[in-house]
Amino acid sequence: MKKTIRIAPSILSADFARLGEQVREAEAAGADWIHVDVMDGRFVPNITMGFVVVEALRRVTRLTLDVHLMIVEPERYVERFVAAGADVVTIHAEATPHVHRALQLVRTAGARAGLAVNPATPLDRFDDVWGELDLALLMTVNPGFGGQRFIERGLERLERLAARRDAGNPEALIEVDGGVGLANAAELVGRGADVLVAGSAVFNDRASVAENLKALRDAVQG
Ligand code: DX5
Ligand code: ZN
Repeated sequence: MKKTIRIAPSILSADFARLGEQVREAEAAGADWIHVDVMDGRFVPNITMGFVVVEALRRVTRLTLDVHLMIVEPERYVERFVAAGADVVTIHAEATPHVHRALQLVRTAGARAGLAVNPATPLDRFDDVWGELDLALLMTVNPGFGGQRFIERGLERLERLAARRDAGNPEALIEVDGGVGLANAAELVGRGADVLVAGSAVFNDRASVAENLKALRDAVQG
């Protein structure tokens, strides 16, 4: 059976003056999830959005809201993101000494829990928490900005992560975030990705959201 590949447009690259419209466009064009990048200016050198934006998005889409927290001490805020309407809440392994607690808080609040790692973080950070998570997010750029170039070593890391996932929790999904586009989407799926985050590949001036999503979908379906 062919596995399901989910495409998650990252609204970080959308036109924020027309955010609702852009999300509706993505939904109509067959996006699977909406990826929401929350940045605090401490864990990463950029500040983006918070609870009120997640609440507003919840009102315009029925799609899974995939909230990626690039914030320090995420355990302080995960429940509020779930209350705001997040379906998946992903925290970073580097952002807290309390990874286990944070993942449990997400699940207890009623959402799916994700754990993310930066490009230089050893993959063994997942080993003791596979049972506590629903999603493993592999960063393939340094977090903070959209439109960066894919770090090639991510391909090999993805394969190793997929093997660890198969052993640790075969139900968990692997999400790849950063520099995903037409040039590498099929290869990422081949190496084990279940969810592809795509920001600048979906929201750009080159083509419509619908055309970009279709091209990505065609690329992964071969
Ligand atoms: C980067 C964010 C990504 C970003 C991806 O810190 O986590 O989700 O939006 O953007 P692209 O797809 O343009 O690399
Ligand atoms: Zn992200």
